[in-house]
Amino acid sequence: MKIVDLRSDTVTRPTAAMREAICLAEVGDDVFGDDPTVLALQQRVAALTGMEAALFMPSGTQSNLCAMLAHCQRGDEYIVGQLAHTYRYEGGGAAVLGSIQPQPLTQDAQGLMSLADIAAAIKPDDPHFARSRLLCLENTWNGQVMPHSYLAEATALARQHGLACHLDGARVFNAAAADAGPGGDVFAALKRITAYFDSVSVCFSKGLGAPVGSVLCGSAELIHRAKRVRKMVGGGMRQVGVLAAAAEHALDHHVQRLHEDHALAAQLAAGLQAIPGLSVRSAATNIVFVDVADGRGADLLAHLKARGIWATGLIGLRFVTHLDVDSEGIQRTLAAVREFLAAEPGQTGAAQAAAAGPY
Ligand SMILES: Cc1ncc(COP(=O)(O)O)c(C=O)c1O
Repeated sequence: MKIVDLRSDTVTRPTAAMREAICLAEVGDDVFGDDPTVLALQQRVAALTGMEAALFMPSGTQSNLCAMLAHCQRGDEYIVGQLAHTYRYEGGGAAVLGSIQPQPLTQDAQGLMSLADIAAAIKPDDPHFARSRLLCLENTWNGQVMPHSYLAEATALARQHGLACHLDGARVFNAAAADAGPGGDVFAALKRITAYFDSVSVCFSKGLGAPVGSVLCGSAELIHRAKRVRKMVGGGMRQVGVLAAAAEHALDHHVQRLHEDHALAAQLAAGLQAIPGLSVRSAATNIVFVDVADGRGADLLAHLKARGIWATGLIGLRFVTHLDVDSEGIQRTLAAVREFLAAEPGQTGAAQAAAAGPY
């Protein structure tokens, strides 16, 4: 049975063409600074984001960590969304390894912290307080695109108080693709987003379909500091041009197509919304969240899994489109969801999963 894996856009496998690019990559020892493919990628991504310098990293988590430790000293703090990846899902790395205190703030349904809350959280220069040093934003957040007006106002507010601004841009190419619209120039849209920030971390292993890799971009001075942190946390890599080549390939072939993933997500969201018993909570870019009536989310997940369709969540389910999902997979998903909700509650979930046989 062909699996439709909608758990995340991190599950993509490198395409044949990407594997070929990996095979052909020229490499050197990047700790000595002589891997030409890594150097070329870093230069290219710095230019694409309008920054002075860039550094290749094995993961988005390490890239964000290096950014936070490069911006902040012990006893500094960063202001961040309560549900942001850099606060909630990175093992508390900034606090554990950098003695940097997070100041998490509530986000609204679009993932935005209110400007009033940000202003109130910025501490005066007083020995009672940690030094407010950095504002961290995330775009996209849960698939949602931050409005430019918000990016402009939040970063201006931070700067006014002497804070630097970092963007966790794990899916910033999706944000740029949404801003650009189908057929629009995603790279131009990217630069308009990154222009608000002092540093940005972009990921290649999500919607761009590479197996590994993120790049942190910022000033030459910031990247110099980040490079020391990267070494400290074991991120100095050797013949890593094989991975940089995958990222280069993704930039050439997988950026301008992102709107296809967004169109499939929109198709899925529209189909789900039309099914009684479901409520699509948010559907922007490539991520769809849906609430299932009567707490039947876990049963629906089991029903889908028995039919080779993988998603995540419990009460609110999450479906993510990406390179390895096509229209047929979306139609199969919708048909399976309709089948589940058409059945009597007692006939669904574990009972139906068992009836469907092994998967
Ligand atoms: C928004 C966001 N930031 C950062 C990361 C961390 O990336 P990685 O899994 O490469 O460490 C993720 C991972 O899914 C993410 O979704």
